[in-house]
Amino acid sequence: MLCAGVALAAFAYTSVASAEENVEVLHWWTSGGEAAALNTLKETLAKQGVNWTDMPVAGGAGTNAMTVLKARVTAGNPPTAVQLLGFDIRDWAQTGTLADLSSLAKEQGWDKLIWPATKQFSTYDGKWIAVPVNVHSSNWVWISKAAMDKIGLAKPPANWDELIAALELAKKAGIVPLAHGGQPWQDTTIFENVVLSTGGLDFYRKALIELDPKALGSDTMKTVFDRMTALKGYFDPNFSGRDWNLASAMVIKGDALMQVMGDWAKGEFVNAKQVPQKDFLCIRFPGTQGEVLNTGDQFSMFKSNDPAVQDAERKLALAIMDPQFQITFNKIKGSIPARMDIPDTQFDDCAKKAIADMKEATANNAVQGSLAHGHAATAAIKNAIFDVVTRQLNGQLTSHAAVAELVSAVASAK
Ligand code: BGC
Repeated sequence: MLCAGVALAAFAYTSVASAEENVEVLHWWTSGGEAAALNTLKETLAKQGVNWTDMPVAGGAGTNAMTVLKARVTAGNPPTAVQLLGFDIRDWAQTGTLADLSSLAKEQGWDKLIWPATKQFSTYDGKWIAVPVNVHSSNWVWISKAAMDKIGLAKPPANWDELIAALELAKKAGIVPLAHGGQPWQDTTIFENVVLSTGGLDFYRKALIELDPKALGSDTMKTVFDRMTALKGYFDPNFSGRDWNLASAMVIKGDALMQVMGDWAKGEFVNAKQVPQKDFLCIRFPGTQGEVLNTGDQFSMFKSNDPAVQDAERKLALAIMDPQFQITFNKIKGSIPARMDIPDTQFDDCAKKAIADMKEATANNAVQGSLAHGHAATAAIKNAIFDVVTRQLNGQLTSHAAVAELVSAVASAK
């Protein structure tokens, strides 16, 4: 009986392995740096005989990808796996369509390996339903060294006044001070940085995580909106609709002094063969050193009864969690490993700083979820805030009106 069982298992495995295994992966990694990073995953799977069907949906922060995903699942045609952020993982977990990866997680000891801020989104109802590939954070500023030298800026800004002084210097020298792409998620990436810098960690938590109406409607929030207007004065006239990677390219070329963006921007600098400290600087948004606005990408798999699909999903999950893969991938992507047990030795200065900052902020309870990247609130609330932030930035709302709108938009999206 035992022998027959073993033989059957062996046969089943052989038949699975010899069948053409395939993963169709839906993601939004379409910029130069993102595509280069993704290639390392495709290559890793190819070595294991797993074919990759690419389903890219362009659009930073995944807003477009989520629309396509819903349509695919509604039509009964989900991909094998999908790139997801924070609260979107929870939303999908609630639908009961995601594969349960708990036994693999147990076998591999994932529970002890992943940063706590990441892990809270990898599990739902006690089950592992997502595999984290990285940790990103959104409170970064990317500064061109060439532009700094040209305008005579000796050191990067450490607080709000120094930030404005640096932007003024660039403006006077005829360099675009702040490279920005006017899209709601990019507007809100700047907004959340200004919230954290202006109000501090507790204010950020109250306003954007706990969604406390008093914090949302406060004078501090009005100051945040005033500061957004001040920053807009340093954009170039063509900022509307620009993709984030094109804004990064302006800094890479030295045409702009700086960009406020998550560390996927570093993937663009690396892809352009630029080196931290020499060609560009990475600093925490002025006034937020020691604090981390956390985000990161995870892959969830859809349930399938097909053993070949299950086997391919298992291989994909194992590949993502492989320590060497996490090093190779994250060096290119601009992020840091989702695994805490990987030393920083092979990483560049910006990633070394990101790892050190994450350790420090984790110990100090100073890691908060990024709103723009789905780690602070549900998609409904995130989108309601996007709308207010973008309207205010584009002059359709005064700061005073924006504060009131923020309170009511959040209340009705709750
Ligand atoms: C993702 C990154 C991605 C960025 C821009 C973020 O939400 O976490 O992986 O590079 O969006 O598309």
